[in-house]
Order: sequence, then C-alpha cells, then structure tokens
Amino acid sequence: MRKQIAAANWKMNLSIEQAETLMTDLLASPIELTENQQAVFGVPFPYLININQKIAGKQHFSLAAQNCSNKVSGAYTGEVSVEMLKSIGVPYVIIGHSERREYFNETNALLAEKVNICFEYGLLPIFCCGEALQIREAGTQNSYVENQLKESLFHLTGESLRGFVIAYEPIWAIGTGKTASSEQAQEMHAHIRNVMAEQFGKEIADSISILYGGSVKAANAKEIFGQTDVDGGLVGGASLVAAEFSAIINSLKK
Ligand code: 13P
Repeated sequence: MRKQIAAANWKMNLSIEQAETLMTDLLASPIELTENQQAVFGVPFPYLININQKIAGKQHFSLAAQNCSNKVSGAYTGEVSVEMLKSIGVPYVIIGHSERREYFNETNALLAEKVNICFEYGLLPIFCCGEALQIREAGTQNSYVENQLKESLFHLTGESLRGFVIAYEPIWAIGTGKTASSEQAQEMHAHIRNVMAEQFGKEIADSISILYGGSVKAANAKEIFGQTDVDGGLVGGASLVAAEFSAIINSLKK
C-alpha cells in the first residue's frame, strides 16, 4: 500500500516558544501511526533544527521545509539550498505551494528546476498543484492541473517518481473554511493518478501518495482521507492546534 501522510504546513506562523509548545503537546497526544503512515511537519526554516531534535527517535514523524532554492549555492541572498536542508537532516520539501506560485511568481518551469534539484540532492518533494476559483467555475480544473503536472514533472523518469508525493490543494478551499467535498477531492485525485499513469504507467501512478489540502479539520479528515485516491492531507490552519492535528493524523487510512 502506498504511504499515507498527514503533513502540517505551519506557513509563516508561530514564535519558537509557540512552535515548541505545539510540538510538546502533539508528542504528548495519543497518536497511532502504522507502518505505512507518516506525520510530516512543514515548519519555518529557523525552527527546522529545533523541531528535528524534538521529533528525533519518534517513529513515523518527519520534517519538511516549506520551500527551497532552485540554485545549488552562491550569491542568492535570502535563499535556502537543498544542500543546507540535507545537511541538517530535513527529508521533505514542500514545492510549489499556491501561495508561492501566487505571491512569489513561481512558475511551472521554475518548479521543475526545484524538483530536479531535490532529486539531485536526495530530498523528497511534496509537489503542490491546484486550481483557483475562476478555473473551477469555468470547469477547466482537470486540464489546468494536468498542465501543472506536465510542465513540472513530465521530464522525469517514471522510476524517479516511485513513491512521489503530490498535494492537490484547490486554492478556493485554502484557509477559507470551504473544503472540497469528498467527491470533488476523489474526482481530482483520480484524475491526477490517471494523468500520471498515462505518462509513467499504472504501477508508478499507484505508488504515488496524493494528499488533499484545503480546510482539512479533525471534523472532516476521516471522510476525505477515506476516499480511494486520497492518501492523506496537507494541513494549514488546523495543524497549528495540537488536538486538531493529532486527530487528523489519527484519521489516516489504515
Ligand atoms: P488550510 O488548511 O489552512 O486551508 O491551508 C491549506 C494549505 O494551504 C496547506 O498547505
């Protein structure tokens, strides 16, 4: 069975004290993770080392950066390289979140470079895709998402995408309290898996974990994660509350 993942995206929130308290509370919560399940914490850069120490030795708990540079090293003030992340033991990187696409002009082509550099240095991308409200209203969300995958991932080999992680996050559902219905999520996740299967073969597509993101809460996680092609979630707001996120983790499919 492919990996089931509950990933937190803290975005640009919390002081270090708040972050450490949140992790302490989470670690004290009753969380049960089976062999193929993982809880991943996408924390701000300055906290990666602290949070890594806090989860050290905790099975099935893992860390993600929220972004990385498309460059290897050099005169790029303010950027963080994959080598730096690797050197402090960060396994995952969230790539192409819609907020980065929208506010920092990240294009599909740039994201292809970021995925490449992650692979080159052995980091695992959590590749985000998803459409804005006007695209959903126009009914063109399938081809829009397909194009995002095509322009950022189709240059890769199927083998390199074995066990890859994609997060589908409809922009209209992010931070709005308006979740996609479980049917809408399943429909798009099945579409994403088909698109990947057509390009890379069914076996590879079936190995890819596709997470849903957008107003996931403890109250709706079980239903959404229960869908055939939904392999967990990428969670913003609710991941900042220990009781919420621990319940979300416990809602992963067994
Ligand atoms: P919310 O869970 O706050 O809607 O955010 C979703 C998200 O953007 C996760 O990356």
